[in-house]
Amino acid sequence: MLPYWTPVALSRDLAPLVVMPVVVDGAELALWRSASGRIAAWADRCPHRGMRLSHGFVRGEALSCIYHGWSYAQSGQCQRIPAHPDLEPPEAIRVPVHRAMESGGVIWVALAEPAALPPALAGLVPLRSVTLDAPFDPAAAGLAESGGAWRGTLAGVAVAVLVQPLPENRCVLHVLADGAATPAALVDASRGVETLRRQAEEALA
Ligand code: FES
Repeated sequence: MLPYWTPVALSRDLAPLVVMPVVVDGAELALWRSASGRIAAWADRCPHRGMRLSHGFVRGEALSCIYHGWSYAQSGQCQRIPAHPDLEPPEAIRVPVHRAMESGGVIWVALAEPAALPPALAGLVPLRSVTLDAPFDPAAAGLAESGGAWRGTLAGVAVAVLVQPLPENRCVLHVLADGAATPAALVDASRGVETLRRQAEEALA
């Protein structure tokens, strides 16, 4: 298990009451945000019959499974079984919970105790996330590692690129850009991200 923070989404892409599937180090997780804004990253498997919890729904501060409606608190503990409303669910019915935090407008997950905090991303604003059906070679894209992120320019705008590896040689790029850039420049930088994706996929073809 990876002892460092992996970027899994831009914070703005996970609104309250939303749950989404993410992959970290090959582990399938359900990432969700409660009504009050708290995030959680859980094993994407209901302890009851194994349904994906990323298909579930968020009510208040709990995530419920879409299949039989078992409801789990932020701690992962099952708190309600609709078919047995008077039963207090045993403590053993619990979803494995992973470390999750938000920093720099990015959601990070760690499967093991991380040795360091996520990279500092001061002065940058979230630009976009894009999935590549190819691995990503930052050096070939003209980026250089600095402070835990790949940095460079896209369409003349300073950017930081965070790479989330996926199985089968795929990955997600979470891109942040200079917060002082004009809206028009950010649009151009966003197109630059699309170019990165296309070049990486064409290189694999
Ligand atoms: S499989 Fe999740 S409640 Fe039954």
